[in-house]
Amino acid sequence: MMAECGCAPHAVDDYILPVTENIKLADRIFWMTFAAPELARRAKAGNGVMVYASQGSDPMLGRPFAVADAESGKISICYMIIGRGTELLSKVQPGASLRVRGLIGAAYPDSAKELLLAAGGVGVGAVMLKKKERAKSASLYVGMPGRGCEALADKILSIHPDAKIYTDDGSFGEGNSMFNVLPRPLGEGRQLWCCGPPGFLDAMRLYYERTPRQLYYIIDKRMACGFGGCMGCVVETANGPKRVCVDGAMFRADEVDLHDD
Ligand SMILES: Cc1cc2nc3c(=O)[nH]c(=O)nc-3n(C[C@H](O)[C@H](O)[C@H](O)COP(=O)(O)OP(=O)(O)OC[C@H]3O[C@@H](n4cnc5c(N)ncnc54)[C@H](O)[C@@H]3O)c2cc1C
Ligand code: FES
Repeated sequence: MMAECGCAPHAVDDYILPVTENIKLADRIFWMTFAAPELARRAKAGNGVMVYASQGSDPMLGRPFAVADAESGKISICYMIIGRGTELLSKVQPGASLRVRGLIGAAYPDSAKELLLAAGGVGVGAVMLKKKERAKSASLYVGMPGRGCEALADKILSIHPDAKIYTDDGSFGEGNSMFNVLPRPLGEGRQLWCCGPPGFLDAMRLYYERTPRQLYYIIDKRMACGFGGCMGCVVETANGPKRVCVDGAMFRADEVDLHDD
């Protein structure tokens, strides 16, 4: 199905895609890979997909996820079990096929000379492709609880060996908080993009309160259509209401109201 509203910056189609992997990486966190040659070729950092947890109509709506990796004709998502849709997804066996709508979301605008990418937990999925695109000119910082998250860290490091992992309990990684090492203030030409739970984003805002224009949030929001037609994903910004699915998902931290629900 092709989106006809002209809202999305690129074609948004529905595909039936074979699941090649669906593995548990930590408590409630999974990594799912689809054979998807066309989407893998087109995917850019900032893009996501809507995954329908079953091929029937229950649940009716797809669930949006960032494309965490795209390589060798495959795309992957890193997802957390939140409710019914993601619970159903976690039960899907390799070999099954699911309906996937994509690509949603605009490619991230990027003008930073030096990029810091910071993620809390499963938020890492939203920044991994950017790290791949920028290679050594971006640094990836990931925070996670610690014990029980070893497979999540291994997966990230298998794709980005220079990622810096921080664990709340200090059981492995580089220390117990990225806030001990993140450079502050952010100098000219440097940006920090972050994705994670609301408390993590709030902490970033506080940490960079002197350089708020260089701090960017990648935010998630419930979505219905994924291509700009339903207004189900609107966030309030300094430039008026914006749809996460076609105008985002990245917003300057001082321009977006995270707590508008
Ligand atoms: C652009 C975008 C990218 C995303 N990328 C990822 C990703 O890479 N990995 C990942 O794990 N998740 C991601 N999400 C969030 C993911 O879509 C939701 O967690 C998922 O839709 C929840 O579905 P569910 O059926 O399990 O939960 P539901 O049964 O729909 O909801 C359960 C509870 O969670 C709440 N909820 C539902 N959706 C969200 C949401 N988006 N944010 C916060 N609370 C929510 C509901 O209000 C409800 O209380 C992304 C969301 C967006 C918009
Ligand atoms: S999900 Fe429909 S407009 Fe964004």
